[in-house]
Amino acid sequence: IGDYVWMDLRSGQEFDVPIGAVVKLCDSGQIQVVDDEGNEHWISPQNATHIKPMHPTSVHGVEDMIRLGDLNEAGILRNLLIRYRDHLIYTYTGSILVAVNPYQLLSIYSPEHIRQYTNKKIGEMPPHIFAIADNCYFNMKRNSRDQCCIISGESGAGKTESTKLILQFLAAISGQHSWIEQQVLEATPILEAFGNAKTIRNDNSSRFGKYIDIHFNKRGAIEGAKIEQYLLEKSRVCRQAPDERNYHVFYCMLEGMSEDQKKKLGLGQASDYNYLAMGNCVTCEGRVDSQEYANIRSAMKVLMFTDTENWEISKLLAAILHLGNLQYEARTFENLDACEVLFSPSLATAASLLEVNPPDLMSCLTSRTLITRGETVSTPLSREQALDVRDAFVKGIYGRLFVWIVDKINAAIYKPPSQDVKNSRRSIGLLDIFGFENFAVNSFEQLCINFANEHLQQFFVRHVFKLEQEEYDLESIDWLHIEFTDNQDALDMIANKPMNIISLIDEESKFPKGTDTTMLHKLNSQHKLNANYIPPKNNHETQFGINHFAGVVYYETQGFLEKNRDTLHGDIIQLVHSSRNKFIKQIFQADVAMGAETRKRSPTLSSQFKRSLELLMRTLGACQPFFVRCIKPNEFKKPMLFDRHLCVRQLRYSGMMETIRIRRAGYPIRYSFVEFVERYRVLLPGVKPAYKQGDLRGTCQRMAETVLGTHDDWQIGKTKIFLKDHHDMLLEVERDKAITDRVILLQKVIRGFKDRSNFLKLKNAATLIQRHWRGHNCRKNYGLMRLGFLRLQALHRSRKLHQQYRLARQRIIQFQARCRAYLVRKAFRHRLWAVLTVQAYARGMIARRLHQRLRAEYLRRLEAEKMRLAEEEKLRKEMSAKKAKEEAERKHQERLAQLAREDAERELKEKEAARRKKELLEQMERARHEPVNHSDMVDKMFGFLGTSGGLPGQEGQAPSGFEDLERGRREMVEEDLDAALPLPDEDEEDLSEYKFAKFAATYFQGTTTHSYTRRPLKQPLLYHDDEGDQLAALAVWITILRFMGDLPEPKYHTAMSDGSEKIPVMTKIYETLGKKTYKRELQALQGEGEAQLPEGQKRSSVRHKLVHLTLKKKSKLTEEVTKRLHDGESTVQGNSMLEDRPTSNLEKLHFIIGNGILRPAGAPGPESLLMAECGPGFGFAAS
Ligand SMILES: Nc1ncnc2c1ncn2[C@@H]1O[C@H](COP(=O)(O)OP(=O)(O)OP(=O)(O)O)[C@@H](O)[C@H]1O
Ligand SMILES: [Mg+2]
Repeated sequence: IGDYVWMDLRSGQEFDVPIGAVVKLCDSGQIQVVDDEGNEHWISPQNATHIKPMHPTSVHGVEDMIRLGDLNEAGILRNLLIRYRDHLIYTYTGSILVAVNPYQLLSIYSPEHIRQYTNKKIGEMPPHIFAIADNCYFNMKRNSRDQCCIISGESGAGKTESTKLILQFLAAISGQHSWIEQQVLEATPILEAFGNAKTIRNDNSSRFGKYIDIHFNKRGAIEGAKIEQYLLEKSRVCRQAPDERNYHVFYCMLEGMSEDQKKKLGLGQASDYNYLAMGNCVTCEGRVDSQEYANIRSAMKVLMFTDTENWEISKLLAAILHLGNLQYEARTFENLDACEVLFSPSLATAASLLEVNPPDLMSCLTSRTLITRGETVSTPLSREQALDVRDAFVKGIYGRLFVWIVDKINAAIYKPPSQDVKNSRRSIGLLDIFGFENFAVNSFEQLCINFANEHLQQFFVRHVFKLEQEEYDLESIDWLHIEFTDNQDALDMIANKPMNIISLIDEESKFPKGTDTTMLHKLNSQHKLNANYIPPKNNHETQFGINHFAGVVYYETQGFLEKNRDTLHGDIIQLVHSSRNKFIKQIFQADVAMGAETRKRSPTLSSQFKRSLELLMRTLGACQPFFVRCIKPNEFKKPMLFDRHLCVRQLRYSGMMETIRIRRAGYPIRYSFVEFVERYRVLLPGVKPAYKQGDLRGTCQRMAETVLGTHDDWQIGKTKIFLKDHHDMLLEVERDKAITDRVILLQKVIRGFKDRSNFLKLKNAATLIQRHWRGHNCRKNYGLMRLGFLRLQALHRSRKLHQQYRLARQRIIQFQARCRAYLVRKAFRHRLWAVLTVQAYARGMIARRLHQRLRAEYLRRLEAEKMRLAEEEKLRKEMSAKKAKEEAERKHQERLAQLAREDAERELKEKEAARRKKELLEQMERARHEPVNHSDMVDKMFGFLGTSGGLPGQEGQAPSGFEDLERGRREMVEEDLDAALPLPDEDEEDLSEYKFAKFAATYFQGTTTHSYTRRPLKQPLLYHDDEGDQLAALAVWITILRFMGDLPEPKYHTAMSDGSEKIPVMTKIYETLGKKTYKRELQALQGEGEAQLPEGQKRSSVRHKLVHLTLKKKSKLTEEVTKRLHDGESTVQGNSMLEDRPTSNLEKLHFIIGNGILRPAGAPGPESLLMAECGPGFGFAAS
């Protein structure tokens, strides 16, 4: 997994080569690989032969592909691909630079880069076009030899751009910034304007080949240049494929020329012209034609084109456009096909621009003059022929114009070499020429182009071979047995040997009756046995094939001769001759100068081309060459898109494989001693690194002998060791094994170390965790146990305490029981005593009452007896004694009866009263059992407040929501409270139930009942032994009644201004009514009162004094007060609350609480005075 392999999918396509892939998965014999294009493949065991291991050099790419272990198309292609993906567009293959078109601007052409690449050897810096230019320049200077750089590649591969970059580099490092240098640089835009056009494959396609020879003086400064052009594609002026354009200059002129000038030339827009709009494409993306026109004009100025010349050129270009717009109409004339040019402004303008007579032009374009036997005969031309004539004329004009322009440029930049030997100059030639082409239909031009490429290929192969040879010589290697084949045979067939293809075509072109078919026949008969010639399959086929170095190309013979002849008809030349335009005459000068006959024998295109090619080859042969192979990565002009098939095709056409083949034939693998030792020293134990070696060559030899054996075909040179492919393979396998072994050892040790340290770390961690865990557990258990013990202790102690407590309790209970028993016994005895006493008194009282009654009866009877006796006495005087006695007896009996009646009556009355009292008690008892309505009770209890006038601050209307209360109060009927209930019959008094009414009835003094009264009390409700208590109870009642609003407040008597309000009221109350002081004071008062006042006044005066015994006037310290509160001490000096001044409700309340509730009553029991006084009902009301 992770290994790189070559995968051969064997699709059988022409340009298919194995693709690099990386192994992702190995699963039960199946291998999953991902190829360089990201596609996944499963390789089954039976297809295992489809994959081969990849040489390590191919895995990550190399700068010089000669170093590739897999030196084949696949290896080169992958190398280019992986570098291209890293934006590394340049790669070497030996001395050849392969440049892949990036189709984007890379920042690798800055002045800084120029500086970096200046004066560096190839290989010292990463591959770059500047390195090639730099080597050209410094080789030229160093070796005083002319240099050339052959840039080839498909259309759009970047030849012209590379040429420009080299030019730019040379101009920069020659460092003069001279006028001539500027002129050389400015030649390019002019050439590109007239010779470049937009095609499908390239927006700025050069439609001609060029060789720029730049001349340098001794000091290395640019001195001049010469431009050679080859084979301009003239047909483009008349015809463009869809989406292609005519030459740039036309569009630039129409866009950039002023309206004024355009008017003079009768020009409009590009779309108006047939010759420009044929491809349906008049603009080119990324090109601003108007701006380009300005550039062209300024370049022309730099290159000494005069304004007149400029204008004349424009005129000719305009004339071409107008000619293209001519309209033809087919006619028949004397049974011959003829045609006529419709008179149109185009015709007139064209004629005027060419400065010829329109009729001449018209006839020239529609008829042909033939000279037969000294006679001139004019024959009409058919419409098609006429159109061909016009197009030929136009092409003639443009081709010659182009030649003229190149000459004009050369005139400006070329200076003939001086004869002075000292001043000898050197040159660098840049050949930007179309590469090998093979289209679906290949015409005569393609033959010429491929012929030129065959030449260049031969040159290239020979150069490479020579280089190899040089290297072997240099290293003193025996190289004699190295053989290689080049394309000499093909070249011989095309152009060198007698009766070659070019000469046959030429011959046929000159032969008046020669046609394309006769030419093909001749070719067939001459070359059908040649291995490089592929004759047509049958007589009807018009194609023949040539086996070029890059593959077979079939050429379509139709139109061959016509194209090759490349001559203009005499009529046209005549027309030009008749023109008044000097410029057109000038460009047609050579034709005009020639006679009609000589013109026929004038050199054909192919012979011209061959000649210039030979010239070129001779020039190149004298130079030290560099090769730049441009590769187009895709057909879409898109960056970062790599079309493998397209690239393989270009690699094949580039002839680069030939280099490889030559290398393969010899010793393709070479290592410098240092490299060899460094790479393979792992194979021999104990070999030190190269920099520590004294005898590197010896070490290399020793290593090679050990690994490869002494008799194998490897050689050791002076600085390098030369190996065959299989040696490299062997070495690599061995190295891989050795490295793998060492890596495994390293891994073993490192893994051991890693695992050991990891284990120790884990162990330490585990111990730490255990330690903490155990600690935690112990602590937890200890805590639990401690808690347990504590609880045990607690239980034990509690048990002990409990037992003690129980014991103590039992004792106390026993003690209590005894005490209680004692108390109960005592109380019982006391009660018994009390009962006996009560019984004694009660019996005494009953006996006394009975005694009194009996006594009264006895007295009455005695009285009656006395009265009877007295009456008897009295009557005796009047009557007889007996009678008197009887009379007195009778009256006496009457009186007795009267008495008995009165007794019975009284007894009845008493019975009735007792019965009523009993009824009342029963009624009250019933009422007690009825459910209590609290609000009624409150109403009943406090309703009286309303009738006696409101409380202070409560007079007037009741607050909203309480009106009913108000009303209720008013509605209350004033009962006659004076009517006291009759005392119950003493005998029937029931003391078992202590209800309030009953309590009141039983214990209240005088006529007072439990019901409401408004009269001031004259005595307390209960009977008190102590007079102080009596007075206090009275005072409390007075205060309560005032509080309730039933008694009026006393008149304001003395202002209290001693700030006593600030003293807590309770303190005041208590102090005021401190028992001892109170008593003392009271006794003093009593004594005083009894001594001074008569009986009637005595009571009121006591009361008067009593009212002084209210709140204390002077405050005391709080502690003192608290103390007194506890021990009941008080130092009251006198009180005037009840009489002297009105008191607030709060004060009253305090007084009530202080005296009524808190004051220990003198009465028996612990209850308060008020409780004692008022009982539970009043206690509730007071609280
Ligand atoms: N080194 C480069 N850097 C950036 N872009 C380039 C480079 N080389 C070529 N190109 C792009 O590729 C296009 C085609 O290049 P160029 O005109 O040099 O091709 P060519 O080989 O001369 O084609 P033709 O044979 O049609 O003249 C250029 O217009 C440019 O956009
Ligand atoms: Mg080009």
